[in-house]
Amino acid sequence: MKFTFLAASILTALACADYEIYQPEQIHLALRQDASEMSVQWSAAHGDDVQIGSTVMWGLSENELTEKAEGDSSLFVDGGDESYTQTHHIAVMSDLTPSTKYYYKVGDTLQGWSDIMHFTSAPSTHAKLDEPKVFGIWGDMGSTNAQILHSVTTEVQEGKFDMILHVGDFAYNMDNDNGRNGDVFMKNIQPMSSHVPYMVDVGNHEVAYDFSHYTERFRNMPSNSIDTPTVTSGNGEAPNNWFYSHDFGNVHFVAISTEIYFDYPDMVKAQEAFVDADLAAVDRTKTPWVIVHGHRPLYCSCDADCDDSAKTVRDGMEEIFYKYGVDMYICGHEHNYERMYDVYKNETTQSTINPPATTYVVTGDAGGPEDHESFELPQPDRTAFRTDAFGYSRMTVYNETHLFWEQVECDTDDNVQDTVIDSTWLVVEEHGPFGK
Ligand SMILES: *[C@@H]1O[C@H](CO)[C@@H](O)[C@H](O)[C@H]1NC(C)=O
Ligand SMILES: *[C@@H]1O[C@H](CO)[C@@H](O)[C@H](O)[C@H]1NC(C)=O
Ligand SMILES: [Fe+2]
Repeated sequence: MKFTFLAASILTALACADYEIYQPEQIHLALRQDASEMSVQWSAAHGDDVQIGSTVMWGLSENELTEKAEGDSSLFVDGGDESYTQTHHIAVMSDLTPSTKYYYKVGDTLQGWSDIMHFTSAPSTHAKLDEPKVFGIWGDMGSTNAQILHSVTTEVQEGKFDMILHVGDFAYNMDNDNGRNGDVFMKNIQPMSSHVPYMVDVGNHEVAYDFSHYTERFRNMPSNSIDTPTVTSGNGEAPNNWFYSHDFGNVHFVAISTEIYFDYPDMVKAQEAFVDADLAAVDRTKTPWVIVHGHRPLYCSCDADCDDSAKTVRDGMEEIFYKYGVDMYICGHEHNYERMYDVYKNETTQSTINPPATTYVVTGDAGGPEDHESFELPQPDRTAFRTDAFGYSRMTVYNETHLFWEQVECDTDDNVQDTVIDSTWLVVEEHGPFGK
């Protein structure tokens, strides 16, 4: 029969190919500028310049994946001896009804299809939430000793997180083992990242080959800088996922690369101009909450070293945060948890209710091979709570004025699991510029 013959020749073609075809793997979702869209990225073929399709099919039930979109693929070559190569695919699901459960699969008739997975589309951008939104937030996790992994994966499987924010330092390091350690990390997070948007910023541990692993593996972040539409990593030009912004419900998120201050002095002005213009354009009647995230802190209290790099980032960003009334700055890098009050020029009023400046949190203690970073300096007035125990943060935005912040400890060294060790309400009744 014709059909059988055709199928047989495709199989022969595959068997003869000088590359191996892999099933879709490392699947991860990301938000788009448009809340009615969701992007999905995956890796499927390893080999040189493999041209296979990038298809996503989706629908409202597992048996009816009625919608279909073709995306794009791009080649990623690790900078190591082996020039280990893989193809990344990105496709976008569009016209989604807000806050609705969808089923989807990715792949191609040649490479085969992923499992059918599901996600909930983003809420529409609006000050009034249909229900509280919960964010899982952490940095510095690692592909080994990822102490929080089972707990946060369970939270996703129980439908508790609406979005994840990983503030840099992913695998320690993605480029290790000719780049395969990056694959291990991306496979480890897939049970989460295939179900909820996994949003990121870049850390110092992604520095290899001019940040090529971060830039390519998270290529589907919602790049939106008009003046700096692309960045150049060791893999070539790619959409700018070093600094970008997007909304989720009533929160406007801005991702920055703190690494630009240390590795790309030529880009410092461009990033600051982006953040300034982006924050100036935020409509606080739609997204009252504004949260900036990056990898390194503006304030930290573990040792003099941490303050050295914090000072550099602080000199660049603190005034901008103050000028536009950034509600929170969230980062990692120090392998500990430090929740601060409002801070401006190292001064605090120790307030969580209508604070007069940005609230700062370091949450860089998800695990990883580098272990705990203890606090050598005394606890400053600006700090409300600090610990070097492993864990992750959970942020629940209830409405325009009330946000609940928790720190969950998961630490085999302390024999503590899934225990809330710190929590606070952050109440902001009038969002907007500070100092007015
Ligand atoms: C900030 O204030 C603390 C006291 O809370 C002080 O120990 C520290 O030296 C100050 N840091 C800077 C950079 O001024
Ligand atoms: C916002 O949520 C908090 C916590 O649930 C509640 O106490 C407060 O009344 C809510 N405010 C508005 C305006 O809905
Ligand atoms: Fe770091």
